[in-house]
Amino acid sequence: MPGIPRDKSPDTTLALLREGYPFITNRCRQLGSDAFVTRMMLRRVVCMRGEEAARVFYHPGRFTRNGAIPRTTFALLQDKGSVASLDGEAHRVRKRMFLSLMKPEAVREMGDALERAWRATLPAWSRMDRVVVRDEIGGVLCRAACDWAGVPLTEAEAVERTREFRAMIGGAGSVGPRAWRGRVLRARTEGWARAQVEAVRDGSLAVRDGSALEVIAWHRDDGGELLPVKVAAVELLNILRPIVAVDRFITFAALALHQHPETAREAAGDDRYLEMFTQEVRRFYPFFPVIGGRVLEPFEWRGHRFAERDWVLLDLYGTNHEKRVWGDPDRFRPERFVIWDGSAFNFIPQGGGDFETGHRCPGEWITIELVKRAVRMLVNGMGYVVPRQDLTVSLSDMPTGPASGFVIQRVEAVAA
Ligand code: HEM
Repeated sequence: MPGIPRDKSPDTTLALLREGYPFITNRCRQLGSDAFVTRMMLRRVVCMRGEEAARVFYHPGRFTRNGAIPRTTFALLQDKGSVASLDGEAHRVRKRMFLSLMKPEAVREMGDALERAWRATLPAWSRMDRVVVRDEIGGVLCRAACDWAGVPLTEAEAVERTREFRAMIGGAGSVGPRAWRGRVLRARTEGWARAQVEAVRDGSLAVRDGSALEVIAWHRDDGGELLPVKVAAVELLNILRPIVAVDRFITFAALALHQHPETAREAAGDDRYLEMFTQEVRRFYPFFPVIGGRVLEPFEWRGHRFAERDWVLLDLYGTNHEKRVWGDPDRFRPERFVIWDGSAFNFIPQGGGDFETGHRCPGEWITIELVKRAVRMLVNGMGYVVPRQDLTVSLSDMPTGPASGFVIQRVEAVAA
């Protein structure tokens, strides 16, 4: 029968929260389809996964992100006035600003900033009885992000900002206290970010030309106006917070090095292998489960009519684990990237499609660079041992990570 099958349950919100990352894949298997219609939070939604679905979802101009994810999550991850909330020409102009910050030289500088901050932290780690990588690496990334972005940061602020950024990311997948805590902290961080933008504009803070803070403070939108201070602050946080969020991939990279020691040996010496290892970390481990869209331009797919404002969820995790493309998706195997076709639709941990015209994450190059630099530090830049601990990764927590946070001991620096 043509059309997209319907899941029979009256509402699947609780099932999503219970099952977590595999929720869409589980239903797709049961229904023998890459897409199905269900109800969540009492609203009708089409859930879909796989390369073809991603191609449909990322067709330029077809979807808006407005009203497509719960308001609490949106407020924690993007918020009003941000690039994600824009469409059409306004989006393109703002997106160009983000992409202008991602030139290869700038990406390398971000990596250098991480290495500096990491080396500066090693003496403290070597004095600690145990280092929980998940808890510690966010602080390193926060210092590196602010250094790179031209944002001054005292030691006390570094501790506070790290805590706030991590609470926003940790709260994004929840409802209730974790999400509220993230929102309270977000308000405080926004006040701080506004002060940075104002200080650049009134000349009281001298900032490096071309740094993220300078570019955002002086960016003019499609109307030729400077961004309202509140919006500029939101966009500054849209750079700093996700850099701190790379702590999740770095923790997973440390886990992969530990559980697949043969990959550590390869990654130590060979840059091409290191790149594939990093891609496999982004493919294999769960981070963003889905991305939501509301239809802007009606269209038809598989006999189903998608009308204006219809709600769709694209399964990012499930697409990265699609058997037809990856063969053995549940094995950690960096070598698979030797023959990967480079499609913008079958490997989508940070969204897919075109960077300029669509909403695909502009931070992919930085993310890859940061994970690569972190792997080099873990393999060549320091010594440590991994004690026995619970390394289980629960697929029902969103976002997730190894239960123990990945504990290391007897840390010692190795000279560069
Ligand atoms: C930690 C790893 C990261 C993950 C898993 C991630 C994931 C994502 C995803 C899934 C989207 C939404 C794509 C869509 O709407 O179709 C997105 C958008 C975005 N990301 Fe990332 N991201 C990461 C790192 C970064 C970094 C390092 C930056 C900045 C330096 C960044 C900045 C942004 C921005 C500004 C958007 C909105 C783009 C738009 O709407 O056009 N992200 N990211």
